[in-house]
Amino acid sequence: MAIKMLRRIAEEVLGPGKAASIWARIDVVGDIAVIKNPLTGGLTLEDLRMVAEELLRRMPYIKSVWLAETPVTGAYKLRRFRHLAGEDRSTTLYKEHGCTFKVDIRKVFVTPRLNYEHIRIARLVKPGEVVVNMFAGAGLFSIIIACKSRPARVYSIDINRDAYELMKHNISLNRLEGIVVPIHGDAARVIEEDLTGVADRVLMPLPDLALDYMGYALKALRGRGMIHVYLHVKANRGEDPVRIGWMEVKGRGLPLRMVYGRIVRRVGPRMYQVVLDLEAMRDG
Ligand SMILES: C[S@@+](CC[C@H](N)C(=O)[O-])C[C@H]1O[C@@H](n2cnc3c(N)ncnc32)[C@H](O)[C@@H]1O
Repeated sequence: MAIKMLRRIAEEVLGPGKAASIWARIDVVGDIAVIKNPLTGGLTLEDLRMVAEELLRRMPYIKSVWLAETPVTGAYKLRRFRHLAGEDRSTTLYKEHGCTFKVDIRKVFVTPRLNYEHIRIARLVKPGEVVVNMFAGAGLFSIIIACKSRPARVYSIDINRDAYELMKHNISLNRLEGIVVPIHGDAARVIEEDLTGVADRVLMPLPDLALDYMGYALKALRGRGMIHVYLHVKANRGEDPVRIGWMEVKGRGLPLRMVYGRIVRRVGPRMYQVVLDLEAMRDG
């Protein structure tokens, strides 16, 4: 519904040609719309401002529109933003699967495009499980798991202090104190020092560190357990991105078996984000 509306608005304002390079790049997070556009396809800032004004007019629940000027970069996976129209504010309340999250698009990575993954993983968690989320951001996976399933505990780690503060806020907003445990720090260090051999399930939603930190995910498990790892893989036409991802993991020679895998989304020309659900074969 919203996607159709975004497309219609972009086409009406810019014409079908220019609109093609923009409408699928608009995300709505709470009451903020983000246009992810490195000003390609002949688009100017003025074009984007016109689209932004029209979004505000036609979709009244949108209060603020921002241009993401860069892709996500750096360890914290943040973008550089420029305000385009509406209220000059980058914090919002974002709802997913009945949970509410305070986010600041300039301070923490957040995307509605992981929506399905959040609930898919939550539904796999069995009552009483201990989960370690190595790269938790504002706590979306962790909190949705705690809301939808009945884990004993979800240790929720992030290295970005702002993400950690927002995660703490979101844990109390959703009344999950004592279930979701926020931890500020580097996931590798935290696991080495405090979370070795505690988990039934580990989440690794950060493709940049996925392969290098796989050994730490195994360390966090208490014997057999599941690891959900997100990877970026390059695949040419006719190649299966999931298989390519699994071959990369397999090449590390770790005691893992792939139970399931899927393409989460396309992230560039011939580049895909995939998730692999891996079973650790080691007995603890
Ligand atoms: C892609 S975001 C996570 C998104 C989040 N899981 C969600 O569903 O919204 C990756 C996060 O990993 C964090 N991060 C980066 N390096 C880290 C490290 N070494 N240890 C822990 N967290 C790290 C970043 O600060 C960022 O918030």
